[in-house]
Amino acid sequence: MSISRALPADAHRVSALAIETFPLACPPGTTQENIDQFCTAKLSPESFEAYLADPRIRIWFGGHGDELLGYVMSVSGEPDDLVIAEAVSARPTVEISKIYVRASAHGSGIAQQLMSVAVENARAEGAQSVWLGVNQQNERANTFYERNGFLVVGERRFQVGDSLEEDFVREKVL
Ligand SMILES: CC(C)(COP(=O)(O)OP(=O)(O)OC[C@H]1O[C@@H](n2cnc3c(N)ncnc32)[C@H](O)[C@@H]1OP(=O)(O)O)[C@@H](O)C(=O)NCCC(=O)NCCS
Repeated sequence: MSISRALPADAHRVSALAIETFPLACPPGTTQENIDQFCTAKLSPESFEAYLADPRIRIWFGGHGDELLGYVMSVSGEPDDLVIAEAVSARPTVEISKIYVRASAHGSGIAQQLMSVAVENARAEGAQSVWLGVNQQNERANTFYERNGFLVVGERRFQVGDSLEEDFVREKVL
């Protein structure tokens, strides 16, 4: 298993992995229509081309050879959302914006490797904290984040299609 920093040429395959794995984070009852709307708006190949061209954003992926198993995306800078800006205590901060691993690789350690790369990169660029939002019903992800030292510091609403989901905001002070 290797971890690589994604390049602009990887936009299409990271998008395909993102669209495949996004439903794993959705609570039961999320409609296919809302999932599709989110994937079109935020996880398309064009979205990832834009993410990979943005100097505040980094993406790493892990897998075996050409097979991608998971990815993580981090975003530097002040949170846009005032609720989050107030909840997160330390500055500068970096958002762990997306971390998704194929179901077949849950528990394999790849998520831990991806998280470690993103956190160490944030630390190296001088961040004093990393933060993320996670659906309150996503028990597996919440357990994973708790184990990684991300404490609940607030709550936010997260839009998936026309549905507003309840998230925890979690922060890990570095
Ligand atoms: C979140 C994610 C990256 C974590 O990776 P992972 O390989 O599953 O994580 P790990 O197996 O190392 O840790 C998960 C922990 O949750 C535990 N767990 C599993 N199912 C659980 C459940 N239903 N309730 C509570 N804990 C659960 C595991 O036993 C493990 O506990 P441990 O720390 O004691 O070992 C991965 O599950 C994933 O990609 N999920 C789908 C996408 C997603 O939800 N992304 C996050 C969006 S915010």
